[in-house]
Amino acid sequence: MTRITMTVDGAQVSDDVEPRMLLVQYLREKLGKTGTVIGCDTSNCGACTVHLDGRSVKSCNVLAVQADGAEVTTIEGLATDGQLHPVQEAFRECHGLQCGFCTPGMIMQSIDLLNENPHPTEEEIRLGLEGNLCRCTGYHNIVKAVQYAAREGASS
Ligand code: FES
Ligand code: FES
Repeated sequence: MTRITMTVDGAQVSDDVEPRMLLVQYLREKLGKTGTVIGCDTSNCGACTVHLDGRSVKSCNVLAVQADGAEVTTIEGLATDGQLHPVQEAFRECHGLQCGFCTPGMIMQSIDLLNENPHPTEEEIRLGLEGNLCRCTGYHNIVKAVQYAAREGASS
C-alpha cells in the first residue's frame, strides 16, 4: 500500500492505496465520485476525463499514486453554490447530450479546450474533442454547446 494525499473537488483526501489502483477507481470506489464514469477498458472513450492540476486527463490512464500531491477536479466539483459551471449550462442549453454517459468527460474536456483556446473554430472543437466518444452520436449538439460556451466567455 502507498499513502497518497490530494485535493479532490476542493477537499483534501488521504488514503492508503494499492500502487496499481487507477485514478478513476480511486475516485469512484474510494471517494464515491461516481459522476466520473468508465466507458471502456482501452483508454479510448474519454468518459473518465477529469482535470489534474488544471489539465484534462483520462483518469483510467493515470495511477492514483501519480496524482499524489495534485489537485483533481471532477464533474462533481464544477458547480458552485448550486450554480452550474458555464460549460455545464451550455450543454444544458444546447441539449448537448442524449443518454448523458459521455457528458462528464465531454464537459471536462471542453473546459480544458476553452481554457487553451477561448474562441475555437468548429474544426478546432471537433479536433479538441476527438478523444471523447459519444455512443449516441450526439456530436452536433455537443459542438454547438462548446460554441455557445465560447460565445458566453465560459473558460476556466
Ligand atoms: S474509461 Fe477512460 S478512456 Fe474510456
Ligand atoms: S450522450 Fe449518450 S454517449 Fe454521449
